[in-house]
Amino acid sequence: MLIFSIETSCDETSVAIVKAAGKKNPRFEILANIVSSQIKKHKRFGGVVPNLAARLHLENINFCIGEAFKKAKITPGQIDLIAVTRGPGLIPALLIGTQVAKSLSYIWRKPIIGVNHMEGHIYSNWIPIGVNPKQIQNSKLKISKKRDINFPVLNLIVSGGHTMLVLAKDHFKYEVIGETRDDAVGESFDKVARLLGLPYPGGPIIEKLAKNYKGDLIDFPRPMMHSPDYDFSFSGLKTAVLYTVRKAKKIDKEFQKKISASFAEAALDVLVYKAIKATKEFKVKTLTVSGGVSANKKLSEKIKKALKDNGLAIEFLSPDVAMSTDNAAMVAVTGFFRREAGSIDSWKNLKANANLRFQS
Ligand code: KG4
Ligand code: ZN
Repeated sequence: MLIFSIETSCDETSVAIVKAAGKKNPRFEILANIVSSQIKKHKRFGGVVPNLAARLHLENINFCIGEAFKKAKITPGQIDLIAVTRGPGLIPALLIGTQVAKSLSYIWRKPIIGVNHMEGHIYSNWIPIGVNPKQIQNSKLKISKKRDINFPVLNLIVSGGHTMLVLAKDHFKYEVIGETRDDAVGESFDKVARLLGLPYPGGPIIEKLAKNYKGDLIDFPRPMMHSPDYDFSFSGLKTAVLYTVRKAKKIDKEFQKKISASFAEAALDVLVYKAIKATKEFKVKTLTVSGGVSANKKLSEKIKKALKDNGLAIEFLSPDVAMSTDNAAMVAVTGFFRREAGSIDSWKNLKANANLRFQS
């Protein structure tokens, strides 16, 4: 089955063509995964500006579609299914991707399926790792291995807009067991970066500065770490960083490193603690992490260590770095599994939904 997919929920315009061989446990081959990032254009505003994102999706999407077909060396007639992100995300941005996908479905006479962006992040873990991110990003890539994933799966989704613990008993049999009550963890990386005068997005630069810091850490609060539920809160941690930054005489490189390392330690500790607690309680067989913050190597290291320290011999998966931030390949893979589960939309009734929730 050949799947053509579009992702425009935030600030990446992405188009992919993915081949799925097999049914229940398929092998995915990414024929093309074109990602046109708008990050540079939003940088000077310190975050993503929704209307600018929509305008840039409009400018770039045709080029991305053309490139995808060129890379994949196939024609639209060969496509079996169109998958498109329909939410959650920025509505002006989502409208571009969904409308283009609907028009193509109408013109090509191909079935279409709307995908939940957060499910997309979960299914990024069904794409095997061990590939060069540059290769996967913008060129034809053959993936011969496949990932066998055993349920129940606990998914820690950590992005710029969400922080969630989602328990899946099977494909699309979800229960959201925890969510952030205020800022998403990626958002808090972005806000702390801004406080330190660092560019957007904050995650990668904070990770780099933290890695190069060797001194003592500031003991920032770990909000809700020991609350009886699985919810998260990051705004208190951000405020604690704000007060420390305000008191500082000058913000030099060493100070930026110290704050980055101390903040990241506190934020990641909370994520790891709650994920491990849920892993134990729900007796999961696989733990996954996904979303932009899963690109953080320290997060994976901490999870692996905590699993070991707790004697939990379960499988832990994190996506390839190129698959952790927004991309259309993960949307295609999700569309495939949704289709296998019997879902289908039509270009007439598929609608973007900025606040789309998980649907079992
Ligand atoms: O999943 P994503 O690309 O977009 C959303 O759906 O939000 O996630 C973007 C977020 C940003 O907040 C960014 O700062 C964060 O992921 N991020 C990271 C890292 N790389 C990206 N956070 C921590 N460490 C990283 N290496
Ligand atoms: Zn995302």
